[in-house]
Amino acid sequence: MSKIKKIGVFTSGGDSPGMNACIRAVVRTAIFEGLEVVGIRQGYQGMLDRNFWDMTARDVGNIIHLGGTILKTARCLEFKTPEGMSRAYENLKSHGIDALVAIGGDGTATGANLLSKKFGMPVMCIPGTIDNDLYGSDFTLGFDTATNTVIEAIDKIRDTAASHNRLFFIEVMGRDSGCIALRAGIAGGAEAVLLPERDTAIMELIEKLSDQANNKKTSIIVIVAEGDKNGGAYHVAERVKEKFDFYDSKVTILGHLQRGGSPSSFDRVLASRLGFAAVKGLLKGKDRQMVGLRGNVIVLTPLEEALNHPYFKLEEDLLEMINVLSI
Ligand code: F6P
Repeated sequence: MSKIKKIGVFTSGGDSPGMNACIRAVVRTAIFEGLEVVGIRQGYQGMLDRNFWDMTARDVGNIIHLGGTILKTARCLEFKTPEGMSRAYENLKSHGIDALVAIGGDGTATGANLLSKKFGMPVMCIPGTIDNDLYGSDFTLGFDTATNTVIEAIDKIRDTAASHNRLFFIEVMGRDSGCIALRAGIAGGAEAVLLPERDTAIMELIEKLSDQANNKKTSIIVIVAEGDKNGGAYHVAERVKEKFDFYDSKVTILGHLQRGGSPSSFDRVLASRLGFAAVKGLLKGKDRQMVGLRGNVIVLTPLEEALNHPYFKLEEDLLEMINVLSI
């Protein structure tokens, strides 16, 4: 018999599509299993402010299709101090919370790991970020939806790029991760992709685009990840466009629209599986685990490993294909 009677669930860091579907899965699985559930609003900030919501199964009705997070989210510096973390723990305990499910990126998982190590409160983490930049899961929650949003935008830009013979630089999110840029580059048929994980010299890009122009391409799409070392789409465009006066050059920064929107079916199912598995894991006595998907199987990875394991998430075949399929 599990000693856990009441679990807290929260979202933290950047929101991502699918977080609501995941909250729903956590709340309903917990209630189905006879537990009480408390939603903690605004992540770690809500633990400090005692921003607690005793939830029922009805509180998560009609949210499976919504982007954002009904629990709100925040980035909280005070929680990182020893005093802040102790106060958060005391507030959780005084509300009767025995265990936590944290939904967010690496900052969220790092905080949950420290809290659990210091005070012995069981935690399960669910990788929720559009960046897909966590070890322990092939895909993070929201990545598929964000990539679909980007592709929809690229498709529209392609229409106008082709009509006007234009060279478009499209900047997508990913400060440290090129996952969105690479997938969107393949699925959107881009001519080149610039990624934070790989340095691309401007000369190399110019040579590549020249080859494509020589191959009679009348319009070109270059995807630039936000964290590319050349300094973003505007900088890249400034340095490249003068060499291509036969194309009209334009820049589009997609920005935060990539973070919102109704989650794809993939993200809704992933969210449901991860939330369900997190609660089941807690009931089996698991602690400090990242719940992830690997090869269509739900797996648990110790948080210590998930947070410290080196990883490279860009698929080698996709990296090679960008050059091959864009000739
Ligand atoms: O959630 C991840 C992410 O979208 C990154 O790709 C991006 O660099 C960052 O968040 C933006 O954060 P903020 O919303 O705080 O500007």
